Formats: sequence, structure tokens, C-alpha cells
Amino acid sequence: MNVIVVGSGAREHALCRILHKSYLCEKVFCFPGNYGISQIAECKDISTKEDIVEECIKINPDLVVVGPENYLSENLAGELRNKGLNVFGPDSEGAKLESSKEFMKEFCQSHNIPTAKSQTFVDFDEAKNYLESFNGPIVVKYDGLAAGKGVFVCTNTNEAIEACERIFIKKEFNQENNKVVIEEFIEGKELSFFTITDGNEYLNIGSAQDYKRVGNNDTGPNTGGMGTISPAPILDNNLDMIIQDQIVKKTIEGLKHDNIAFQGVIFFGIIVNEHHQPYLLEYNTRFGDPEIQSISLRIKSDFLSLLHSTATKNLKYANIELFKNKKSICLILATKGYPGDYPKNTEIRNLSELKNNDEFYIFHAATKLINNKVFSNGGRVLSIVVCGDNFLECRNKVYEVADIIDWPEKYYRSDIGANIKFSYF
Ligand code: GLY
Repeated sequence: MNVIVVGSGAREHALCRILHKSYLCEKVFCFPGNYGISQIAECKDISTKEDIVEECIKINPDLVVVGPENYLSENLAGELRNKGLNVFGPDSEGAKLESSKEFMKEFCQSHNIPTAKSQTFVDFDEAKNYLESFNGPIVVKYDGLAAGKGVFVCTNTNEAIEACERIFIKKEFNQENNKVVIEEFIEGKELSFFTITDGNEYLNIGSAQDYKRVGNNDTGPNTGGMGTISPAPILDNNLDMIIQDQIVKKTIEGLKHDNIAFQGVIFFGIIVNEHHQPYLLEYNTRFGDPEIQSISLRIKSDFLSLLHSTATKNLKYANIELFKNKKSICLILATKGYPGDYPKNTEIRNLSELKNNDEFYIFHAATKLINNKVFSNGGRVLSIVVCGDNFLECRNKVYEVADIIDWPEKYYRSDIGANIKFSYF
């Protein structure tokens, strides 16, 4: 089969690798891709929806996999499907689970899915009045897509009002029609849970714990993710059952009930409180980055046949098998300064000396090749992933590799996979 992957980050590199590995795979294309991806896929530097649709029609692949959320909310998957292609990724209607926080809340409410209590506002003064009636921590969410920057976990009312000012007055996300969802703060531990569905059937594909803050011990500003460990250590059998029962099953049934077609992956962002009760914080309608980097090395079964079955509504004939008892860790190497200002185009010298294999892989998020030299091309640049028998083994190896990489501008957290707690208590 020929496959096209849309996107350019380490998530797409991980997807290209695991699709390319399939015995069914003839060729992988990636639009636009990056230098790392170009080692295993034919990349083409196109990124507008129109260009991608045109190129997909020309190539006429057996499957298109849409990586990033912005394309999904622009209905790229829907348009390609209308042209007769098999696509993994929901139409814009299904993608609304991620692209509108208000829609997500209404969906949870109408299908009895546990989530934080919330209220939506379209006006700064009304939001401010509401916030002034509260004390203590509260969460403000920009309604639309914001590349991970639209959620403000505020410790007090003043911080929450400031967040609303940034959204409504300074218009940091959108010039008009701004909306916020203000929700109760739930204290607990987070995990990412992934389910693939063709709209009828569903299969769970694994879990991970994301390290979102830039600094060790979860300090400093939020980032796109500084590392993941998989599976999520707090996910014991009991919690897994509760999540499946109260969140996953109800979501799939809710989509069917509301006639929302969905062929793709649902990424449940979940928080578990001290009573072991999970609450849904957010839906994402694509694979998590950096979650899929770590999960992908644990997948044993054929990934191309899984995604193709999903896109053709044949998921009931597919299966997912993970390597038994294997763990994995993904460590992000970012450019020093990220998520603030950071230098661009810094040289990374010895990447070619590190040979990838089935249990160790370096995924590229932002690299380019100039005169045969590799340069950084963004904030989060590389994902080092190791799969092994236990987290300690994985941790030792990812940090050994991180130290070997000859890149003076590199920055990484040193506590990914350290002090793991295997249950909430
Ligand atoms: N790791 C969080 C995300 O992909 O949005």
C-alpha cells in the first residue's frame, strides 16, 4: 500500500516509521515532513489544504493519515474522503470535540461523561463578574485551538481575570468572536488514553503520561510536552475499567447517538482525583505528541492494517497487540530558551552516529539539512525514545543518548521517568 502522512513533527515521524515498518507498506509520503522523516518517506514541501488535496488526488494512495489538529478542524479529512480516498482522521464535525471546548462540554453533559463543571462566556465583563464570586484555583480555557497555549490553570481569581483579559481584551488568540470556558479546578494526576474508532467499533491503543512543564519537578511554563512515559504508571486495571466504562464507551456511543461519523483516534486527556475517580479534561482528535512517540515503540501488531481498517470501517476485523510488559520513555531535546525565545539554525553534529533500531529511535520534530549538516529548525527538535523491560532501563538509555548528542544549544528535563508512582496513593 502507499500511504500519505500529513504533518511535519516528531508525531508524524513516529507515524511514518511504524507505517513504513508494515509488511503491507510499499511507500510512505509525508507532506511537508522534515529532514528526519525524509530518511524513510518521500517528503514534499506543501502545507496548504488546497495543495495537499491536489497532491493526494494525484498520488491516489491507499490511505491518508492526517496528523495535526488544525488540518482536521479545517476539514481536510472530510474533503479527501469526499474525493473517494481512505482517510484516518475525523471530519471537522468530529474534530470539534477538540476544536471547541464548549462543544466538548455540551457533549459530555448530554452523554453523562464525567468532566469538571463549567460555564461558557462570550463577554469579558460577564466572565469577570462570574470569576469574582469565586475563591481559590480555577481553570480558564480559550474555546478554540491554541496549540496547547489556551488553557490557564489559575491559582486565584486575579490570575483568572488576567487570562480572560488576554483572550477578550488583548485578543491573543483571535480577533473576534472570542469565547471562554471557565471550569472548576480538579486536583489530581493526569494521563493520556488513546482509542481508535471507525465510528462503530473501537480498540484501545495504549496510554502515556505527559510531562507538560518546561522545568524539572513540573515547574515553569507549559510546553507542547517535554517527554512521556508509557504506559501511564497510575493506570491500574481498576482505573482502566472505570475509564473504559465511564468515558470511552460513552464517548463512542455518544458519537453514534449524535450521528457524528468518526474514523480516527480519540485522545482522552484525563485527570484522576484522590478518590480514584477519572474526569475528562479534554478530547483531542489526533495522536498526542510526544505520547505517540513512546507508545509507537510498544506496538507489536501491524499498524498500517489497523489504520487502513479504521479508514475503511473494518475495525471489527483488526486487532492491536502491544509488546508484553514493555515500557518506553520519550525525552524531548529542545533548543535552550524554549518555550520563550531561542536561537534558530543551530548545528547538531553527530546524529548519524546514533543508529536507530526497534527499541531505540530518534524522531525529528524540527531539523533541516544544509550542505550535509543537520540544523535545528524550531523549539522542540528531537524525541529520543527507548523501549525496554522497565522504566529504569529506558531512562538510563535516553539520558545516555541525550548526553552523547553534540548540540551545545540543547535543553532537556532531567526527571522524565524518575520517581514514578505506580498508583495514585
Ligand atoms: N501531548 C499533548 C498533546 O499532544 O496535545
